[in-house]
Amino acid sequence: MRPRVLLAMSSSVDGRISTGPGRNVTEWSARWPGRRAPAIIQERIQQWGADGVVSGSESVLVWSRHPVAVPAEADGYSPDLPYIVFDGRGRITWTQTRGLVVVTCTHVTETYKNHLRDRGIETVFAGPGPHVDVSAALTALYDRGFRRLALNGGGTLNGAFLRAGLVDEAVVVWEPLLVGASSTPTLFDAPDLDAPDALLPLELVAASPGGGDTVVAHYRLRG
Ligand SMILES: NC(=O)c1ccc[n+]([C@@H]2O[C@H](COP(=O)([O-])OP(=O)(O)OC[C@H]3O[C@@H](n4cnc5c(N)ncnc54)[C@H](OP(=O)(O)O)[C@@H]3O)[C@@H](O)[C@H]2O)c1
Repeated sequence: MRPRVLLAMSSSVDGRISTGPGRNVTEWSARWPGRRAPAIIQERIQQWGADGVVSGSESVLVWSRHPVAVPAEADGYSPDLPYIVFDGRGRITWTQTRGLVVVTCTHVTETYKNHLRDRGIETVFAGPGPHVDVSAALTALYDRGFRRLALNGGGTLNGAFLRAGLVDEAVVVWEPLLVGASSTPTLFDAPDLDAPDALLPLELVAASPGGGDTVVAHYRLRG
């Protein structure tokens, strides 16, 4: 048994989720304050009934290395849902711990385990490493009561979920932007496919304008 998973992301029309490697995507909202992608994503996550939001370690580190001041109306910060960060190599030193769940590997250093313990952070150990075993992690999160998780990037963690067959639905806020790139994170960064059998067809559940020329589209995997 595992929680149902909704990918919840903003994206350029060409599938990029930031301006470039190491850049914080919230700079898009800061540049065009009329567009409210983070707030829309949070609204949709809540409407869908998520009981937690999942993020990758690199997204959190980019966020702290490249802070961007976002206008209040575009800010999607939602302190109410548990925030579940996959930090398989134990790279993050935590200061803000309210609502935090860290998913990591059994073979992270004792120093990191002590840090999590000292801070009283709820921790899930899933697999020996070097990265989290995402299927085992979802089973463990289900056992802790999580039933519906919103997956909020970045592209590498989304890709690991996708290839493990762990994405059920997707809400994408399509931003009216073209980025163009070769190594900028995309919605799903995963090993290449070599045959169409592995393509995952979607059905459109709903689509609507999101303001500021954005489009909000909700898909689910065809059964
Ligand atoms: N547009 C949006 O809505 C949105 C949302 C969030 C983030 N972003 C952007 O996304 C960018 C960061 O994305 P990113 O792709 O570089 O990083 P990321 O997905 O945030 O972080 C990489 C994650 O993938 C894990 N991982 C790597 N290989 C794995 C494997 N084989 N199996 C399981 N897990 C694996 C890493 O684990 P370890 O911890 O073990 O390394 C880490 O948790 C930033 O620029 C951020 O601004 C955009």
